[in-house]
Amino acid sequence: MIGLIGAMSVELEMFMHELQDRKEEEIGMDRFVSGKLYGVDAVLSVCGPGKVNAALCTQSMILRYHPDWILNLGVAGSGEIGVNIGDMVIASAAVQHDMDTSPIGDPIGYVSKIGLVEIPCDETLHERLVKAAESIEGLHVVEGTVATGDQFINDGERREQIRDRFHAKAVEMEGAAVAHACYMHHVPCGIVRSISDGANGQSEMDYATFSTLAAIHAQQVVEKLLRGEA
Ligand code: ADE
Repeated sequence: MIGLIGAMSVELEMFMHELQDRKEEEIGMDRFVSGKLYGVDAVLSVCGPGKVNAALCTQSMILRYHPDWILNLGVAGSGEIGVNIGDMVIASAAVQHDMDTSPIGDPIGYVSKIGLVEIPCDETLHERLVKAAESIEGLHVVEGTVATGDQFINDGERREQIRDRFHAKAVEMEGAAVAHACYMHHVPCGIVRSISDGANGQSEMDYATFSTLAAIHAQQVVEKLLRGEA
């Protein structure tokens, strides 16, 4: 069994249509849809935006379905100049850019209990996702850190601050929370994010224009991986 988590329904829509022998179950306010996806046992859930929604959904998925691994997929804002709308970011690690206990001596982003700033993604999954993305002609694939926070970033200065602090290639709102929950339960995790906007002053407009297409592209990468084509 593998797990797929997206924040919005558009980020899993293609897979929801492809899923066979589907069963549905609710845990709290999270809905889990399981079945066969390209012949693979899978469970899917739309977690809703933000870190708490993502962490709760991930933990429920782990405890109920015991997935071998979990992917968080969807769209993101660009983390730096040179990462453009339409590019695909495959995370090697994720950080919580808005986690800040620096007044008591910790580095910004430090997550107590797990004792990390950078929460690692599974190396094998990362490599397979890179291969899958690179097999799509014309797709620019970027590897690196994804920065997660409970903020839609639409300000170039804030984006630069996050990039300077964490070398982030993409900014989004769930990846590090999924990775955090997976880390706590020793479940391998991968993050695939397609860039929908520049996370700058134009980001609401770009997001409205490009997020659906970007969400489809991220699903195409994951489809390649599930079909064993990469
Ligand atoms: N997801 C897509 N674009 C984003 C942005 N600019 N900030 C946070 N999450 C996003």
